[in-house]
Amino acid sequence: MSGEYFTYKGILFPSGLYSPESISFAENTASVLDDDIFIITYPKSGTNWMIEILCLIVKNGDPSWVRSVPIWERAPWCETVVSGFRVLDPPLPRLLSSHLPIQLFTKSFFKSKAKVIYVGRNPRDVVVSLYHYYKIAGHLKDPGTPDQFLQDFLKGEVQFGSWFDHIKGWIRMKGKENFLFITYEELTQDLHSSLMRICQFLDRPLDEEALASVMAHSAFGAMKANTMSNYTLLPLSLLDQRQGHFLRKGVCGDWKNHFTVAQSEAFDRVYREQMRGQQAFPWD
Ligand code: PPS
Repeated sequence: MSGEYFTYKGILFPSGLYSPESISFAENTASVLDDDIFIITYPKSGTNWMIEILCLIVKNGDPSWVRSVPIWERAPWCETVVSGFRVLDPPLPRLLSSHLPIQLFTKSFFKSKAKVIYVGRNPRDVVVSLYHYYKIAGHLKDPGTPDQFLQDFLKGEVQFGSWFDHIKGWIRMKGKENFLFITYEELTQDLHSSLMRICQFLDRPLDEEALASVMAHSAFGAMKANTMSNYTLLPLSLLDQRQGHFLRKGVCGDWKNHFTVAQSEAFDRVYREQMRGQQAFPWD
């Protein structure tokens, strides 16, 4: 099924890892528990970084869990064929990950007290990260030239649809007490303050020693060296890390090394049009 896609309610999904049934199950059937914690992102926005952070926070900074269990088992995906919602006897609270746009997200969540942490990232860095990921991920089509891929991204003709629609949809939740919006840029610039915000949101205060451990073990280098977090346990057919790494660079602003002036201008035109009237973001 490599490189094949299907459309579900207008959004593109890669076949194999997802199916219309698995998306529909996550959307309509799955049950949410009040103490579930969801990590929701558009792809390549820092999902795995946030997963690592939360796994460390719920264990008070103890790294044993992140060192012994693959990251996809610690915070399984809601919408995949093997759905995180179906895990029997999961550790509580459940940590669950999702890239679903809000209109497809699990209906029972909206009647629950479960919490969502939404991580946003500069879409210019997202498209660069996604382009490199498309090249190594067995379930995704060859991205074509950077120029073609940028056009596809700006039109929302990539997996999980439009970045613009995704963030505009989820940001409407801002202000609700069970929703935290945080950015990759904030995590990068001031991880300590970001962790304090996350701990406060989760009502899980940590002492300085535990916070220092969360910071150390969720650092890019630590995750890259941890086989439970760097995806090297996956077969090459799913992720060919001989061609590039899942934990690629882990920085803000790499888009400047990739965009031409013309691409940057084209991007800005679409961004301004799509994001008119929205709040300010660190990448504006
Ligand atoms: S996915 O496949 O959508 O779930 O990918 P996601 O985890 O959302 O995003 C992958 C990018 O996040 C970077 N990353 C990190 N950056 C900083 N610190 C840490 N700890 C970290 N972990 C992952 C990863 O390198 C990808 O970004 P790029 O720009 O490609 O390096």
